[in-house]
Amino acid sequence: MAEPLKVLITGAAGQIAYSLMFQVGSGSVFGPNQPLKLVLLDILPMKSVLDGVLMEMMDCALPLVKEIVATVDETEAFTDVDVAMLVGAMPRREGMERKDLLAANVKIFKSQGAAMDKVSKKNIKVVVVGNPANTNALICSKYAPSIPKENFSCLTRLDQNRAQAQVAARVGVDTQNVGNTIIWGNHSSTQFPDVSHATVTKDGKVVSVYEAVKDDDWLKGDFIKTVQTRGGAVIKARKLSSAMSAAKATCDHIRDWWTGCAEGKWVSMGVISDGSYDIPKGLMYSFPVRTKPDHTYEIVQGLSISDFARAKMDATAKELQEELAAAMEVCEH
Ligand code: NAD
Ligand code: LMR
Repeated sequence: MAEPLKVLITGAAGQIAYSLMFQVGSGSVFGPNQPLKLVLLDILPMKSVLDGVLMEMMDCALPLVKEIVATVDETEAFTDVDVAMLVGAMPRREGMERKDLLAANVKIFKSQGAAMDKVSKKNIKVVVVGNPANTNALICSKYAPSIPKENFSCLTRLDQNRAQAQVAARVGVDTQNVGNTIIWGNHSSTQFPDVSHATVTKDGKVVSVYEAVKDDDWLKGDFIKTVQTRGGAVIKARKLSSAMSAAKATCDHIRDWWTGCAEGKWVSMGVISDGSYDIPKGLMYSFPVRTKPDHTYEIVQGLSISDFARAKMDATAKELQEELAAAMEVCEH
């Protein structure tokens, strides 16, 4: 058996974490042969709830989970962590945009970045789920200068899964038969769900999504809008933000980063821009990435970009630049 991996889940008393930690502990992310040490972090006012969650995790009696620590101490939580799933942050309520959470949430990621810089492993892999996810992830990396920027990411896999599910339902295939959808940019209503390089496998044949759907107006209109605004639609209906699907997407994100994509496939992750596709360097921007079994990834290169796509990719980049400026303002004052 391998050495246990130390996996941190923040916001551990909250609703996403409640769905997430069982999936991680059961082996569905790091595989059936990878033992785990789970660290659950929340804040002092939530200590009693956190203690209850700890009891339940123990009672799951998961064979891969060798140790569980529940704590409200950031330094203790981040010490020697291999993989951090940073969920803990305030969710938005009906009528808010995710960037309205900046003032409330960004300092959490400043503080956690600084803690990570001091006590986590230098090869830690980080996914930020707490909103606004891209900007929080960038802030976290800025305050953890000793950790490579490539080790920070944010979750846009939920948007990818939503896009895949919308196309699958429209065409009448299983979701795994829709491949290579892309989410460009911010996990916000400016994101660009792009199916121009995506495929559908139906009746043994692989065709483009445009050919399978046969409705360009839907693909350029309602499809994009539905994916962009899905989070808000869930909040309106449930009076709570998405949790089960967010936890599932977090598992997909980390599993694919850890184990690598299948040949010819890619996934969407918010990662640090290296200037690919003329996206300003240093933004935390969602790109199609090819993940590899050594836990690295590369941004997929050479995809053709139409004028329609270019305008949408630039609009979401502009929003991220504005968010970053606002976040730095909050962090520096
Ligand atoms: P929740 O309110 O149920 O839980 C959040 C938990 O985080 C709470 O228990 C809270 O005490 C804790 N927390 C707050 N500050 C903390 C800190 N400094 N350290 C550790 N824990 C802290 O919220 P939720 O529904 O689980 O959502 C969590 C976040 O995830 C929200 O910001 C939400 O908007 C975001 N989200 C992102 C996506 C995505 O796709 N990126 C999807 C769904 C939700
Ligand atoms: C989502 O996409 O469901 C989450 O980011 C929650 C939200 O605020 O929309």
